[in-house]
Amino acid sequence: MSDPVFAPVAAAFGPEGLGQAIRLRGWVLRTRSSGGILFVLLRDRTGSVQVTGRRDILGAEAFDAAEHVQVEGAVEVDGTVAEDRRAPGGREVRASAIRVVHAGEPFPIFADQTEEFRLDHRHLVVRSQEHVATFRVKAEMLRALREFLEGEEVLEMTPPILSGNAAEGGAEAFQIDYFGRPGYLSQTAQLYLEALLFPNERVYALTPSFRAEKSRTPRHLTEYLHLEVELAWCDLASLLAFEERMVVAVAHALAERRPAELRQLGRPPEELLAIAAPFPRLPYAEAIERLAGQGFPVRWGSDLGTAEERALTVEARSPLFVTRFPKELKAFYMLRSPDDERTVEAADLLAPEGYGEMIGGSCRETDLGRLTERLTVSGASVAEYEWYLDLRRHGSVPHAGFGLGIERMLRWVLRREHIRETTPFPRTPSRHTP
Ligand code: 4AD
Ligand code: MG
Repeated sequence: MSDPVFAPVAAAFGPEGLGQAIRLRGWVLRTRSSGGILFVLLRDRTGSVQVTGRRDILGAEAFDAAEHVQVEGAVEVDGTVAEDRRAPGGREVRASAIRVVHAGEPFPIFADQTEEFRLDHRHLVVRSQEHVATFRVKAEMLRALREFLEGEEVLEMTPPILSGNAAEGGAEAFQIDYFGRPGYLSQTAQLYLEALLFPNERVYALTPSFRAEKSRTPRHLTEYLHLEVELAWCDLASLLAFEERMVVAVAHALAERRPAELRQLGRPPEELLAIAAPFPRLPYAEAIERLAGQGFPVRWGSDLGTAEERALTVEARSPLFVTRFPKELKAFYMLRSPDDERTVEAADLLAPEGYGEMIGGSCRETDLGRLTERLTVSGASVAEYEWYLDLRRHGSVPHAGFGLGIERMLRWVLRREHIRETTPFPRTPSRHTP
């Protein structure tokens, strides 16, 4: 992909840049002309630089053509790097030639347009500096996660997205017509990862998950990216220690590799470097007491919603584990606590500063009888889960796993008000285009 002729824009600011002949290409952030001089702010993936072109040097025809290039039009430039204290970055490129690649139509995106308009034009809005920075951090987050998992010898797997059963219960699954039979879009890869755990011991998948929830909240998407990990021979303490190491590793990697983008988006990298293990562990029962003390109408058995999670974390600077939930609140596959009939060995990891749940994890029930009983109580059809129950018939061993919502974590890391700002083309109950 590297072109021997064209230099990246950033080369104009390099130590050898000054005085150098340079050939650039990219998109126009803005243009202005005065007194026979054209100023073009040119952008490529490496940055932006001011290009100046004089009518007497470029020639009248080329000058006029370049002058008519719209915002987000594309040009190629031949020129020389020169010092200019008024230009952004203290340098500019003095053009000997500007060739128009695509003049373009007037760019329809401006400041202060309504959110609806911006969502309708998301395919163009993704060119904004804010989105560019966001998706660089997101890419780095995925890279850091994969690096961490590789270091822990966890094997990447590719479970299916289409399935004949709805893993977490039918209510929140998108149903599709699968050649005349019901099919579902995956809500979680967990059950498949459990099958793949037995031959591989430590597995993960990074796949889209789909939730047909009509929740219009700043933290729900109907399609999100889900990192799921499943570990053999793992109890709750080891699971939480693993999650903790992972979150610390990713926070530190982002602070070290993307400090400029973090600052640009309002997150000082120092705050991510300050994330350290251990994270506090708060048993559900104590969380309920604390919330009741603050006036929330909750008692043992109440689910923790957005408001409750916010109250628990709004003052915190560290992520927080809430552990040992009542079994009625959680999925059928979770392991009953060894010392308490009423709770399961599960923990949610809540992001600090009020952002709330970003990881849900648990030990899995290994006993065939208890698993079947929980499945029956949950109202699911046991026949549909026959293949999953087989896993408890052949070498069933203690194991645990979790799911991390990538956009949930990014929302906290980048302090975004709404989760839709962490994904290029957000899917919500009211929108699945563009
Ligand atoms: O807590 P959840 O529903 O857990 C599971 O699906 C498990 N089977 C995962 C596992 O153990 N393998 O979802 C896991 C995480 C949540 O903590 C949250 O971060 C994210 O997925 N998530 C969502 N993110 C965005 N939009 C939604 N509608 C989400 N629902 C869950
Ligand atoms: Mg959850």
